[in-house]
Amino acid sequence: MREGEKVINESKQGEALVLDNTKISSKKLYIESYGCAMNFSDSEVVASILDKEGYATTRDASEADLVFLNTCSIREKAEQTVRKRLTEFKKQKKANPSLVVGVLGCMAERLKTNLLEEEKLVDLVVGPDAYRDLPNLIEETNGGNKAVNVLLSREETYGDIAPVKLDQNGITSFVSITRGCDNMCSFCVVPFTRGRERSRNPLTIVAEARDLFEKGYREVTLLGQNVDSYRWNMSSKGVIQDETIPTTNFAELMEMVAQIHPDLRIRFSTSHPKDMSDDVLHMMAKYDNICEYIHLPVQSGSSEVLKKMNRGYTREWFLNRIEAIRRILPNTEISTDIISGFCGETEEQHKETLSLMEEVRFSFAYMYKYSERPKTLAERKYEDDIDEKTKGKRLQEIIDLQMKHQLENYKKAIGKTYQVLVEKPSKKNPDEYSGRNSQNTVCIFPKENVKIGEYVNVKITNCTSATLRGEIV
Ligand code: 5AD
Ligand code: SF4
Repeated sequence: MREGEKVINESKQGEALVLDNTKISSKKLYIESYGCAMNFSDSEVVASILDKEGYATTRDASEADLVFLNTCSIREKAEQTVRKRLTEFKKQKKANPSLVVGVLGCMAERLKTNLLEEEKLVDLVVGPDAYRDLPNLIEETNGGNKAVNVLLSREETYGDIAPVKLDQNGITSFVSITRGCDNMCSFCVVPFTRGRERSRNPLTIVAEARDLFEKGYREVTLLGQNVDSYRWNMSSKGVIQDETIPTTNFAELMEMVAQIHPDLRIRFSTSHPKDMSDDVLHMMAKYDNICEYIHLPVQSGSSEVLKKMNRGYTREWFLNRIEAIRRILPNTEISTDIISGFCGETEEQHKETLSLMEEVRFSFAYMYKYSERPKTLAERKYEDDIDEKTKGKRLQEIIDLQMKHQLENYKKAIGKTYQVLVEKPSKKNPDEYSGRNSQNTVCIFPKENVKIGEYVNVKITNCTSATLRGEIV
């Protein structure tokens, strides 16, 4: 799964991304995305499919004919957020009974028709591989009927669909490269909600990235639950499927995208420690426009816990990958995901996570309490036996240590100069811009005479625990 679920320029877990692509049209679609960057990217595919049906997107739910929530199931809290949001649409549906309310994505896939019974106001339930069927399904809802399609596919990649860009800065964008996940980490619901892993045709990926560059975008993030297992034209058994097409692995794909233009920055998410090869690291070193940043979820610092999580690597293997990154790419920053209080986690094992953090000093971390998810291997095999208070206490220790490391890291950046892509006006002060350096740290600086989409050199003069501040030099 996403592990990919996040990342980089992406929204925080559970935070809604309200999409804006307002156009004049008779029919209006309002769509909110929850969870991962993958979901945000899927909403753009949905907007594209419905654009052809005459739907324009709106930011104002009250004028919409279709309200879609593209949902996340990764933690129970994510689902609760969506349910709460659904109750907020009740009034609107009462006033306008022809309004169609749809639940898309992972929660739709997980709960299927149950959602229609549990949430009376929902008209449409559509899983992540069924978006091409949306025009038919919407038609089925005419006259107050309900419609469902939660079929998962082994082939669907939406590779041929040019997403309608719904982000607001016009500078940074996600490009999906794989769908689904074959890893079966024991805590994760994604294999059940997003199905088997499949890779998208590299030529469609390059075409989409080139088109974005020509439209003024200057950064693409290649997205997949496990980008390192990207493989085109090869079956899961390693058999070449079409002799006339060259096989492509992730390093080669990255090179194809990096060659589009030196001014197009490349990021990717998410890498998997068990699969991240030196080839990928050497390719990153070869191109200046591949960013010096890797999101590498560790989940736990204890080899025993990692084994129960079915992650396919040990603490030592993970540290070996960190050593390879630091050797081949000395300026690269590494971020991670950590889960506290997984089934049976002892205090000793929790301390191993803290000591691994000390060894690595991640530049950023997404940190979670373990949340048992239905159907997962962990739910079937292990007891969720760490009480909430202990999970919370351990999580706080992890957060405190991460904040300490982050602040120390940022302090070290003071006095250094970074190349920053100017992305948008700063939220707090319209006279300042916000952008990120190659290492994915947000930098705030006075506007001066530069435009959004340009690269500038920023000398860092100050910091908080989440941003660097500086001035253009
Ligand atoms: N409970 C808590 N965190 C989880 N994640 C995935 N599944 C769970 C779960 N059941 C976290 C992992 C993953 C990130 C996207 O979400 O850290 O990398
Ligand atoms: Fe994304 Fe679905 Fe995973 Fe949530 S559960 S992070 S929406 S893939």
